[in-house]
Amino acid sequence: MQSGPIPIQLLLVLSILYTASFLSSAGGEAGPRCRDDERRALWDIRRGLTDPIGRLSSWVGDDCCAWSGVRCNNKTSHIVALDLHNPYDDYGELGGNIISSLLHLKRLTFLDLSGNDFDGMQIPEFLGSLLRLRHLRLPKMLDLSSNKVDGEISKIIHVGLSGCSRFSLEVLNFGRNQLTGQLSDGLGQFKMLKTLNLDDNMISGSIPSSIGVLSNLRELYFGDNKLNGSVPKTLGQLSNLVVLDLNFNSLTGLLSDAHFANTMGLKALFLSSNSITFVFPSNFVPQFQLTNIHLGSCQLGTRFPAWLQTQHQFSTLDISNVGISDTMPD
Ligand SMILES: *[C@@H]1O[C@H](CO)[C@@H](O)[C@H](O)[C@H]1NC(C)=O
Ligand SMILES: *[C@@H]1O[C@H](CO)[C@@H](O)[C@H](O)[C@H]1NC(C)=O
Repeated sequence: MQSGPIPIQLLLVLSILYTASFLSSAGGEAGPRCRDDERRALWDIRRGLTDPIGRLSSWVGDDCCAWSGVRCNNKTSHIVALDLHNPYDDYGELGGNIISSLLHLKRLTFLDLSGNDFDGMQIPEFLGSLLRLRHLRLPKMLDLSSNKVDGEISKIIHVGLSGCSRFSLEVLNFGRNQLTGQLSDGLGQFKMLKTLNLDDNMISGSIPSSIGVLSNLRELYFGDNKLNGSVPKTLGQLSNLVVLDLNFNSLTGLLSDAHFANTMGLKALFLSSNSITFVFPSNFVPQFQLTNIHLGSCQLGTRFPAWLQTQHQFSTLDISNVGISDTMPD
């Protein structure tokens, strides 16, 4: 386990679901009583934090189970959830070092630190520490979105693998951070993933073809990165895929009907601002009915694509600058 302060630099949400059924209603007369050692850990946490607008002002008195953001288990009184997410957009961030005391809350199954400003936090090390805690349930959801997380995506994937979370992780959200580096085939190990959000980072290189083994995947957000190369055909194996967002990358190459071989339930297709060339057969009738179609700057050919005319349920359509020089069908 990590000793000493771990440098932080982020706003972090680590949500370990499983939680709801264990949560009591906050405090109250009939509520659980706070355990002394865990109250001390919370005091340590508070002491290490800056709290400019007093968001933790309720953290006084003995019954820490009644403090804001703290939830205890009815029966054991252990703290099972800590929700310190910042509800405000531009102010109210908690700052400082939270790590070492956090590790004393050994029954925590839900942790939300999003929207704060824990400077210098190194996510891989932090996750590593959390995942090594024996009593911690394996997370089903890791949400670190809208933070200032930087570092290599490959390291994060690697830490996830060594923590065995690949077996349970259903939601991985690192959207809107500053991650760099390239995706690796190791991604294919997270077989339970339903949502993979790496939107709005600085990830480069190509999309690994191992993505096609994530058979539970419903939502894939890779938009606003620096991904290049062509879109792997293995995406077509993702029969549960509903959202595919590859907007604003540097993807090239061809996109054929094979890319959508089994994506019957696809609803949202975001491919704008890439240099992808569509080579669907002229008689291609997709199995999906899209609600959001964003293909700006892709090359769709000069004729108005017949497959687009099979789509009747869309609410947004972006086919700007796609090379069509045809009359608009009715
Ligand atoms: C918590 O306590 C309430 C009321 O005492 C009870 O209804 C509820 O089932 C308890 N929850 C758990 C998880 O024990
Ligand atoms: C994609 O980007 C990587 C890293 O930026 C580079 O090494 C590679 O040559 C690029 N590949 C293509 C096909 O452009």
